[in-house]
Amino acid sequence: MAQSLLVQLSTRVGQAFEKLDLDPALGKIVRAQRKEMGQFQCNGALAAAKQAKKNPREIAEAVVAELEKDGSFQDLTTGGPGFINMNLTDASLTAHFNELADDPSFGAKDGVTPETVILDYGGPNVAKAMHVGHLRATIIGESLRRLNVFLGHKTISDVHFGDWGLPMGLLIKEIELSNPELPYFDPAFEGPYPDTSPVTVDELQVLYPQASSRSKEDPEFLEAARLATFELQQGRVGYKALWQHMLDISIAETKVDFDLLGAHFTEWKGEADTNDHIPAMLKRYADEGYSEISDGATVVRVEEDDDKKEMPPLILQKSDGAVMYGTTDLATIELREEEHHPDKILYVVDARQSLHFEQVFRAARKGKSLRDTVHLEHVGFGTVNGKDGKPLKTRDGGVVRLRSLIDDAISEARKVVNEAGMAEKFGAEELENIATKVGVAAIKYADLSNQRMSNYVFDLERFTKFEGRTGPYQMYAAVRIKSMLRKAEEQSLSQGPVQLVADAERNLILALAGLPEAAKGAAEKNAPNILCDHVYALTQEFNSFYHDCHVLGEKDPAVRASRLTLCAITLRQIEAVLHILGIDVPERM
Ligand code: ARG
Repeated sequence: MAQSLLVQLSTRVGQAFEKLDLDPALGKIVRAQRKEMGQFQCNGALAAAKQAKKNPREIAEAVVAELEKDGSFQDLTTGGPGFINMNLTDASLTAHFNELADDPSFGAKDGVTPETVILDYGGPNVAKAMHVGHLRATIIGESLRRLNVFLGHKTISDVHFGDWGLPMGLLIKEIELSNPELPYFDPAFEGPYPDTSPVTVDELQVLYPQASSRSKEDPEFLEAARLATFELQQGRVGYKALWQHMLDISIAETKVDFDLLGAHFTEWKGEADTNDHIPAMLKRYADEGYSEISDGATVVRVEEDDDKKEMPPLILQKSDGAVMYGTTDLATIELREEEHHPDKILYVVDARQSLHFEQVFRAARKGKSLRDTVHLEHVGFGTVNGKDGKPLKTRDGGVVRLRSLIDDAISEARKVVNEAGMAEKFGAEELENIATKVGVAAIKYADLSNQRMSNYVFDLERFTKFEGRTGPYQMYAAVRIKSMLRKAEEQSLSQGPVQLVADAERNLILALAGLPEAAKGAAEKNAPNILCDHVYALTQEFNSFYHDCHVLGEKDPAVRASRLTLCAITLRQIEAVLHILGIDVPERM
């Protein structure tokens, strides 16, 4: 397995510090800020000088003298108050490239201790079609899942359906109003219940808002819905049967969206799956003194002395007996702990739910619902805004459905690929396939390339451009390399050992060598934007290489073969990173 170039070189430079009786940790090197400064720089002499009370320039020069003995470096210089600049020799750069070429993770897995990571994302609800908020949860969550897989972790991805609260009771009662004759409402009915759902997903989208506003005007209806929720949770068979229909049609509907977005869930669990566990949990929390009764409700106090803002208690059970969003989340933690023994649970959910997760995590720790060592994290994200800077809405002020966003992106992509002249080149089916990939890549890259917590403006025209920091552009860069490699094959030009001639080739290898830091940084901060930056820098470096160096047209067969190898490995890395970002690259476009 390859090891990160920066780690390897830092160790070597650290050894030089050590020979001078200085702390080897000071040998840490970084890529030089500007290319004219060389490839790498080390600033450790400055800190070493403070520690040893010596002149930093003298230390820098002594380190350089040591490094001269190590055959890997060249062009060693000192500058400023004691910076050390250096290049790698072509031999060591080539050797590193060969290591990278042999390792599917490009050195990213090195030093990673495999963990079990549960990712909770997607989070659709039975009562409401997936909307723009679920777009980010799905895109970011899926890319973090893929990143963790890439780094060698075991991942479990759970969609955590919202299927167990008051919205269920509201829907049951709303359906009863218009169809009181259905057997689901007759307590004396002994079954069997019908096989097909009495309502469609589209009807649910109408029924839920209707029920929700009715409950605000009609306290009796609200009371009935509360009771229905409680009875459902207690297992009333007719309600359970109706609920199952609603869940099944919702799952089928969301699967279409998740397939379009390439999201992969290993578990299709929901809030309701905790129902059987909740009584035991409530009992343990009460018996062990973690919960208490307050105004008839069962709560867990979670405030801490140094809280800066108010931290309300987590409500486990309301006075009417119904359990809450927090109760099912707490029970889910216990079930995950029992079943999977995870090292980490990541919740990729809208930042506006941060209070909820803080309460749940604190309650879980207080009530010892899981081992202390398990890392719980709410991976929040900002909102998607319209061009007016306010959260994205439909023209009449409604919630934007996820499906319509994807559809819009694909139609914008159709326009763009047509304008690029692809309609003349490809048949209808291939063209549509390309447009779908371009549309999905556009929204994904736009979403992931932003800092997760910031809001961004949904601007399809900008997202679908074939230039700059866009998904379609990164994808196009990969397609171009693919087509070049195909041509090489057609002309029976083979790949061969890498030999370095031009600076653009060296820079390309250095860009490829940056993946371990990018992938680890992205995983540590749950920040896919770091990988977006990496792949963008890589495609830029490839463009410079392609501009400066002939590949197919190169006369010298050994140089040509070397460049074809560089192209093939670059393609492999671009595709690997785009795969983590959830972007599929077509064969041609
Ligand atoms: N269904 C929730 C929503 O739409 C998201 C669920 C997130 N996951 C969780 N374990 N609470 O807001």
